[in-house]
Amino acid sequence: MSVNRRSFFLGTAAAAHSLYAQTEPRVPTAVIGTGNRGSYLLQGVLKQPNAKVAAVCDIKPDRLDKAASAAARDNPMTATDWRKVIDLKDLEAVYIATPPHLHSEMAIAALQAGKHVYCEKPIGVTPAQVKALLEAARESNKVFVAGQQLRSMKQLSEAVRKIHEGAIGDVIMVKAQRHATADLAHDGPSADWYFDVEKSGGYLIEQSVHNLDACNWVIGAHPITASGFGATLLYQDDPPGRNIFDCGVMSFDYANGVKMSFTQNVFHPRTMPNGNQYIYVYGKKAAVDLMQNPMLYPLSREGAPSVLAEKQEQDPHAHIVAFYDCVTKGGKNPADITIGATAALTSILGHEAMVKQKVISWSDLGVSI
Ligand SMILES: NC(=O)c1ccc[n+]([C@@H]2O[C@H](COP(=O)([O-])OP(=O)(O)OC[C@H]3O[C@@H](n4cnc5c(N)ncnc54)[C@H](O)[C@@H]3O)[C@@H](O)[C@H]2O)c1
Repeated sequence: MSVNRRSFFLGTAAAAHSLYAQTEPRVPTAVIGTGNRGSYLLQGVLKQPNAKVAAVCDIKPDRLDKAASAAARDNPMTATDWRKVIDLKDLEAVYIATPPHLHSEMAIAALQAGKHVYCEKPIGVTPAQVKALLEAARESNKVFVAGQQLRSMKQLSEAVRKIHEGAIGDVIMVKAQRHATADLAHDGPSADWYFDVEKSGGYLIEQSVHNLDACNWVIGAHPITASGFGATLLYQDDPPGRNIFDCGVMSFDYANGVKMSFTQNVFHPRTMPNGNQYIYVYGKKAAVDLMQNPMLYPLSREGAPSVLAEKQEQDPHAHIVAFYDCVTKGGKNPADITIGATAALTSILGHEAMVKQKVISWSDLGVSI
């Protein structure tokens, strides 16, 4: 009896596997940059029934070995030279999770070689890098998804949709912050690029690009001007050679009249209230705290706060699922090149305002979206 049951199940599993193998073509995929984020993306790729890992690439041998082991199921090619990966004929999709200053060049080369691209944020750290990638992505007929994965979060999407439908009246002001409880590890594996403004773009461009993208999303526009001040006040020359700010305060003005205030720092005590990250959205009828289980607070004295969007089951790899949906069946792109470029340019706008200590206009960046 137990033998029969066992062979029944084995037989069923084998049949299911061969059926799956016949019906589900798997997109040959490469991951370039298999560090912290790249290895997380790799796990996500391995979970997709319609993807297989054809290549992994990193200049650091330990990280490359780790990625090759993680993807051993698919027996990927390994490379330290990313161009060898892009040159692979049968490759269809490329994830780019290298330091930010490399994204634009790598993504352009991949698109021009006919690959679909999932490119981590920020898609570039200078207006020129963003412009070049924007043009290449628009000229290509391949899928381009920016790693702005907040766009694939169901609860947040639901809250933004309700705000766009008028749940709080016209949006008139946003106050947001991205405060961290600590600086990135000074002796960690990313310290060789993160503290160099030319490689990372600095804290605003590298990290707050997520928060600024969410602000643009809920406002439904990008800013037209920014002003601000930034500095390195706690971690001067720490680590040695550091040239990125550890704090900044900015104001953004939007064409639709919305005013936005944004602050960042890396020294928000863990025990101090007011959250490390929030986006307060003020409308003509109510306000919402967008990031934490969005609650709606009516402006009228009588109204009680209510839940704007319920918590939903969330696939942590939803953005990756969406990428393959776009590649295999023309699904809706959650973060296309326009979204990725707008997010990067918004953070560059704020960064330039802080560095130049003057009001910077969107048009000064020289990129038409
Ligand atoms: N979407 C998100 O929430 C999220 C989260 C974390 C990081 N990121 C982004 O992912 C990117 C990488 O960040 P990270 O934290 O993984 O950094 P990391 O330092 O851990 O990884 C970067 C990897 O790229 C490799 N690399 C550098 N130059 C290379 C080259 N020329 N060819 C191939 N590999 C090269 C490095 O050796 C390293 O292993 C950044 O753009 C970061 O902003 C996004």
